[in-house]
Amino acid sequence: MKKKFYITTPIYYTNQAPHIGTAYTTIAADVLARYHRQKGDDVLFLTGTDEHGEKIACAAEKAGKSPQEFVDGIVEKFKKNWKTLNISNDDFIRTTGLRHKKGVAKFLLKLEKSNKIYQDEYRGLYCTGCEKFITKKELIDGKCPDHQKEPELISETNYFFKFTDFLPQVKKLIKDNKILIEPKERKKEVLSLINQDLGNFSISRQNVTWGIPLPFDQKQNVWVWVEALQNYVTAIGYEDNKKKFNQYWPADLHLVAKDIVKFHAIFWPALLLAVGLKPPKRIFVHGFLTSDGQKMSKSLGNAIDPIHLADKYGLDSLRYFLLREFAFGQDGDFSIKRLEERYNADLANGLGNLVSRILTLSAKANIKNTSSNELSSEIKSTQAKYHQAIKQIKFHEALESIWRLIGVCDEYIEKNKPWQLVKDNQKKFSQVISSLLNTIKEITVLLEPFMPDTSKKILSQLKGNKKAEALFPRL
Ligand code: MSP
Repeated sequence: MKKKFYITTPIYYTNQAPHIGTAYTTIAADVLARYHRQKGDDVLFLTGTDEHGEKIACAAEKAGKSPQEFVDGIVEKFKKNWKTLNISNDDFIRTTGLRHKKGVAKFLLKLEKSNKIYQDEYRGLYCTGCEKFITKKELIDGKCPDHQKEPELISETNYFFKFTDFLPQVKKLIKDNKILIEPKERKKEVLSLINQDLGNFSISRQNVTWGIPLPFDQKQNVWVWVEALQNYVTAIGYEDNKKKFNQYWPADLHLVAKDIVKFHAIFWPALLLAVGLKPPKRIFVHGFLTSDGQKMSKSLGNAIDPIHLADKYGLDSLRYFLLREFAFGQDGDFSIKRLEERYNADLANGLGNLVSRILTLSAKANIKNTSSNELSSEIKSTQAKYHQAIKQIKFHEALESIWRLIGVCDEYIEKNKPWQLVKDNQKKFSQVISSLLNTIKEITVLLEPFMPDTSKKILSQLKGNKKAEALFPRL
């Protein structure tokens, strides 16, 4: 039977079009989805949009539109951009969609039945940018550090979730790697957060009109975070399509950045346990892309448009750069200068040049019997490193291993001087060219999840189907 692989991205807020930060997570998820498809796994790759809440309602009002009309427009942009970035998601969940609303209602009824819900007065500070209650301790100069905005003081009667009842269980699952949280530092952080006396949280809001009503009290809406997390189960037919649900749940991997790790690593498993579902198997937390050291975000207005970069440098160059330049678990400062440097060094002079050299040389070769590949042990060791790196979600190391093999090919060419061999040793010449051709084919396989178009182009150039144009013209 095929092994299943259910991978998700966060569902993104629809207050603005996607930017490079959201593209970063989505491209990373795409690489893993493609990798697993290549392996023959039964992949379900889910992304989508988080469309309810105060923040979205405010953005709609500013734009002079109804919330629904507003989010419909933004969602189109997300879908279009993901297509442009060659994202191979199998599904796209919208929180304003019927399947989500229905699933959330069922989930909340189950939660209510669990006797873990009670009413209480809530007074606290709320950041609409984060869509979450925030403590004084988290503020810097009285403002939310991520949104540079003062939070609002809110006082209302809400429904609370007896979340702390589940903390010992969640803690144990994380400790034992039953919910694998990576990188290791994040696991430690989450465990220390659990030890810090977290209080119960409210699952509803009284005055937010743009949301999903609580099924047991229509006067309140579900707190947007609680319903958003549920997208991971409503998308696969929670309480609606048992077969599909059982096929894919629990998720194999939730990809998130560090801003939302608490929700995914603590709140979400607790909610799932409360309704009798298994927690996700693995959560990988990546860093932030920054611009001059500050987190890039829609709210701060310092975000870069990935479509513009893809237009200018080529889509695969962007995909390559994002995953090669930064260690996935760590922050990285995005710079056009570095992008251009890597483009010239790794793509134009590295991969592009190698392919063009091999094509030129092979045009002169008459390879009859493809003799053994002299680089086969190098290929094997590259593959081993590559698969190990992908397993650990170390994209930069996986790419590094491919580029090391590209370097090996260049050295092999220099050492064997095929332009000389073609004149005085045809047999050796064809052995060298056949080794190179075979190696470059292996490289296209490893490259495919990261750079699907490039991989296809190389294969088609090797077959002689296409006039060989430079893959990455120098800038
Ligand atoms: N809607 C919530 C998520 C709900 S998931 C059940 C949300 N949305 S968001 O639009 O703000 O997206 C946050 C996510 O976008 C981050 O966790 C990360 O995956 C990605 N990123 C947004 N800005 C980013 C950077 N500057 N750098 C890296 N990733 C970034 O939170």
